[in-house]
Amino acid sequence: MIVLLLLVTLCAHGGKGEESAGAPRSGHVSVVIVGGTGDLAKKYLWQGFFELYVHQVGSGNTFSFYGGGLSPADAATPALFEILKAVSCSKDASEERCALLKEQFLRLARYRQLKTLEDYQALAEHIGRELQQEGITEAGRLFYLSLPAFAYVDVADKINRSCRPTGGPWLRVVLEKPFGHDIRSAEVLATQLEGSLKDEEMYRIDHYLGKQVVAKILPFRVENKKFLDPIWNKHHIERVEIVMKETLDVKGRISFYDQYGVIRDVLQNHLTEVMTLLMMRLPTNLSSSEEILQRKLQIFSSMLPLRKNQAVVGQYQAYQTTVQQETNKTKDHVSRTPTYAAVLAHIDEAQYEGVPILLISGKMLDERVGYARILFKNDVFCLQSRDGVHCKPKQIVFYFGHGSLQYPAVLVSKNLFRPVVTDSEWTEVTEHTDVNILGLPISDYYVQTPTEQKEAYSELISQIFAGCKNNFISTENLLASWGLWTPLLNSLAGTYPRIYPGGGDNRDLLDIRVNGKDVGYTREVVIISPEQMGATSANSFQVMQGNFRRADMVSAWPEELVERLAADIQKEAEAAVREGNVFHLAISGGSTPLALFHRLALHHFSFPWSHTHVWMVDERCVPLTEPESNFRGLHDHLLQHVRIPYFNIHPMPVQLNQRLCVEEDRGAALYEKEISGMVHGSSFHFVLLGVGYDGHTASLFPGGKADEVGEGLVALTESPLKPHQRMSLTFSAINRARTVALLVMGKGKHELISQLSRVSDKPDKWPVTGVKPADGRLVWYIDYDALLG
Ligand code: BG6
Repeated sequence: MIVLLLLVTLCAHGGKGEESAGAPRSGHVSVVIVGGTGDLAKKYLWQGFFELYVHQVGSGNTFSFYGGGLSPADAATPALFEILKAVSCSKDASEERCALLKEQFLRLARYRQLKTLEDYQALAEHIGRELQQEGITEAGRLFYLSLPAFAYVDVADKINRSCRPTGGPWLRVVLEKPFGHDIRSAEVLATQLEGSLKDEEMYRIDHYLGKQVVAKILPFRVENKKFLDPIWNKHHIERVEIVMKETLDVKGRISFYDQYGVIRDVLQNHLTEVMTLLMMRLPTNLSSSEEILQRKLQIFSSMLPLRKNQAVVGQYQAYQTTVQQETNKTKDHVSRTPTYAAVLAHIDEAQYEGVPILLISGKMLDERVGYARILFKNDVFCLQSRDGVHCKPKQIVFYFGHGSLQYPAVLVSKNLFRPVVTDSEWTEVTEHTDVNILGLPISDYYVQTPTEQKEAYSELISQIFAGCKNNFISTENLLASWGLWTPLLNSLAGTYPRIYPGGGDNRDLLDIRVNGKDVGYTREVVIISPEQMGATSANSFQVMQGNFRRADMVSAWPEELVERLAADIQKEAEAAVREGNVFHLAISGGSTPLALFHRLALHHFSFPWSHTHVWMVDERCVPLTEPESNFRGLHDHLLQHVRIPYFNIHPMPVQLNQRLCVEEDRGAALYEKEISGMVHGSSFHFVLLGVGYDGHTASLFPGGKADEVGEGLVALTESPLKPHQRMSLTFSAINRARTVALLVMGKGKHELISQLSRVSDKPDKWPVTGVKPADGRLVWYIDYDALLG
């Protein structure tokens, strides 16, 4: 039975868009939710369609609702009705009216099995018959595909072949993300769908566009144009942050999530859409979906490419176990899917040049909250009253909801301007409970909120019904977004995410720092081995010190590893200076330690250089001024940049009597004497070593005779590579040290690290295995590339 309702098909309710399907046409509307008993339908869609129905009651149309699914009707009908019974009316509807509306809605809905083409044909025949029996004209057919993406093409094809209305009525097919996995797959999917559906018939949902605050971004910018125009640029904007933090994990969704991860699930769509709304040039007509699309595309084409250094990724610790459980993977399976990501983007336009735009989202974080904040520069320095309004952060916050505020709002700090409220659906909040929003008490903001809170899906459903396309993702928009994200996703493939314990325990672990065009974690210490990735307790995460060859191991991303090593060296230096007023540091050559030298030179201004003696671990027998000389490298990259006294520097005497490393010149003995004379017990405080592809360390090579020199501290050795002649500390000198650090970095060393993890101590074959400080400590510093390949 069809209930006649009056309907005004205006592109108004919720979206002030335009009518895409020609003149409004009243008549009968068939709504089909394919996947009608699934999670999304249960949580949002039926409620959204119920609200649509309630709004349209009395407006002049008729409806029928179908929940479609693969199960036979007798099995699925009770489940559908359980869902339908749970829909709720708005607060202002009386109990009686609500009961009546629900009863009508239930009478209009039924379940249909939609598996085969015949099932779709039967549905179309059924709709045709009902129309004929009731003698009413048809307005349109709305199919909502609440299905896994792999089913889209097939279902769209079945709809096209059997369920197209003939003549004037419209067909609208709604699709949920994911729309592809990268640009290629999105293009393929778009082309396949185009085979069945016209562009104007497709409504790709991004439910963020249905959120009231997100939908308010453009109108807000227009309403407050006179205040914003002068400050909406690089001279005033410090940075833009678009953040969606969640406390939930992804249990139950792993088969989907593990293939996508947070960048594809949230950043590529929700956060990117918000970014375009914030940054695009204002359209002259807010109702023109075409103009809005062109402005969005303009932003995409101005985005600087996203490089690997512009992103950090993380994964909550329990994720691995969930993957193993939900996908039947073995214990040694390691998923690198990120559940947290922070990405730094830039727009290459004069207006926004250099303005950092941060897009951040993650699961298992400390709170659930979503917002976009435009933080403005503030160059006012308040001498006396630091709380003076002018000194406080100047910001506009589009607060999507949840968090400490708990309701959607647009907040403008009072030191900026008082925004206008022209929209009757929004109101200014003047009385609030005392909360702090992004560094400011709420009383420091002008706050606007919608008069009535509405669910994003309900808003979007009413826009689909009205034929408004403003808030849906067109093919061009979609491909432009994938075009931005795909190169970054490719460059991040294989990257190991930083593991975080989840919730409040994450503390500062996921904090990031913007450094020019790059972004990095602020906290340097992340020590992870794949075995530890499976560990479960937050405590074990905090003390995560790995082991390698029965010695301590620190492992992290290269930059963090170097930061950590530099910090450790400084700590030892300070301790040694406190204890004996001097720090003896022996340093290797080669390219691996260069990053460490830079770090020490550029960041460790408080390093006690004036009390530090720098020794060489080994040297090539070339003049010290040659670029090949280890000393030359150390000089150029470190010594010349720090204030170290000349007499604290101890190059190896490879050149004596105007010749290089001649036994009779006794250079090794000379250096040994210098060490014994100055270094207490010839025990360096810190020895920094590297390891070569052949397992050599210092200049102690496989098959070398270094052990023959017995207790000698320094020896002349032979390298298989040029320059062959070397001078080196011996095992005897190295193993007297208090701390020996072995720094190994780069993918090229992965094979070596795998081998070293298996071999026993054989210094002949693997010299590095002869490094075993007698009373000191050995620590391996291995970056993820070397550790994990
Ligand atoms: C969905 C993502 O699109 O958005 C989910 O697939 C995420 O992973 C959800 O949880 C968040 O939406 P909201 O509206 O709760 O912020």
